[in-house]
Amino acid sequence: MEIFLDTANIDQIAEILEWGLIKGVTTNQKIFLSEKGVNFEEQSKKILKMVEPYPVSLEGPNALDELLVIAREYNKWGKNVVIKVPMLPDGSGLKAVKVLESEGIKTNVTAMMTVSQAMLAITAGASYASLFYNRIRDSGLDPVEVVKQSRAIIDNGNYKTKLIVGSIRKPSDVEEIASGNPHIITIPYKILKEMPYHERTVSTLEEFDKAWEEFKSAEKTC
Ligand code: E4P
Repeated sequence: MEIFLDTANIDQIAEILEWGLIKGVTTNQKIFLSEKGVNFEEQSKKILKMVEPYPVSLEGPNALDELLVIAREYNKWGKNVVIKVPMLPDGSGLKAVKVLESEGIKTNVTAMMTVSQAMLAITAGASYASLFYNRIRDSGLDPVEVVKQSRAIIDNGNYKTKLIVGSIRKPSDVEEIASGNPHIITIPYKILKEMPYHERTVSTLEEFDKAWEEFKSAEKTC
């Protein structure tokens, strides 16, 4: 399983890259909205460079014709561009997957809530398929089941698609999602920063520190 960072913030990406564990970045329009005052192209190019060789998902417009034009343009910005393709209700996003993948442009079908939607993205040949964990839960479905069944479709059919799970709101979501075995979990900075903390870990380390001080004060000198 791999961890991606769900952000478009340069400082957050720089900090978490130093942890040495993220294998990609995902963005969307809402994430960019919180980066007030930046230029989309400039910021995306910076992120692509920082994260290279790992993939960066960039989201375009919903209308098919416009999406194809924009996707081809974004794809020139770096070797690691992935185009987020919306799971549109009329299925036209799937056509974009077919066209873009046939041109060698990687796609990430996004905003998916059900196994049926995932099945379509997977069989259409998307490089990535994104399930939105908490939004699935909000809709009344069991998100772990949706993740498990979607992963089984990929494994049983030997499809190339990597399953991404996003829409994380707290660290325990990550633990639950891991039991569904997706290829990737994309985590917001705030949640990732909370994950190393446990009060018992902190108190254990304090206990060991105290013991070390006690040992050093009584240590035999050579
Ligand atoms: C993933 O690719 C999405 O960008 C993201 O996880 C959506 O999360 P939200 O439900 O918090 O908007």
